[in-house]
Amino acid sequence: MKKVIIANWKMNLGFRDSMKLATELAKQVPEIELGSKEVIICPSASSLLLVAEILKEHLFGLGVQDIFWEDQGAFTGGESPKFIYEAGCRYAIIGHSERRQYLAETDEMVHQKTKAALAAGVTPILCVGETFEERSRNLTDNVLMSQAIKALSGIDLLPNEQLVVAYEPVWVIGSGRSLDPSEAQHAFRIIYQALLDLFPLHVVNNNIRIIYGGSVDGVNASEFVGLEHFGGFLIGGASLRVEEFISIIKQTK
Ligand code: 13P
Repeated sequence: MKKVIIANWKMNLGFRDSMKLATELAKQVPEIELGSKEVIICPSASSLLLVAEILKEHLFGLGVQDIFWEDQGAFTGGESPKFIYEAGCRYAIIGHSERRQYLAETDEMVHQKTKAALAAGVTPILCVGETFEERSRNLTDNVLMSQAIKALSGIDLLPNEQLVVAYEPVWVIGSGRSLDPSEAQHAFRIIYQALLDLFPLHVVNNNIRIIYGGSVDGVNASEFVGLEHFGGFLIGGASLRVEEFISIIKQTK
């Protein structure tokens, strides 16, 4: 599987700034990088179609930052997996810690969303990660296993379906401090083991990528690239800075 680099713009850019950033990316990210890796842009919903239009001649993928678990109906404010697929999105971030924290998303909701995404042909980017408090109480491994298992139990991946699991230690996100790569390595192994409890080995190896997110920048990215099970990055702040984002893409091998 190709490495995947996912830009999570969060709620940082209005449509003018989104347009500007997308235009710069289209101009500056070398096609050769886009051919050998997957680069996915997740703008805010209000800018999605605009960004899709700007990137359509290029090899970027498009994702949303959240979806709802039903395809259609009276669900005010929900983003339908089916409709976002029609809008050209092939990825959806699901269970980001900011949504778990501010919108009280539960593991059950994350599970429903993951299932709905796959059913609509959208690859889930499932986020798991421990808070600082959980880490201090030595609960990291339990949290990672429990979040992965609750999200994915009962889900089968067909040969043409993919899944991305993003390890995002909540306390590192947006902090500017980087995680010791040996800690990311440990988390990758725990997640890989949890996945092996859920899926056959060939599915884990061929259809699932485990990626890292949390204050990744142009300086620390290279420290994660060689880790066992490393499948790519989920990037917040640094994805808003074109040169730094390109530098991370180039370093991702
Ligand atoms: P930062 O890269 O800004 O720490 O954000 C990480 C993240 O939450 C990506 O989803």
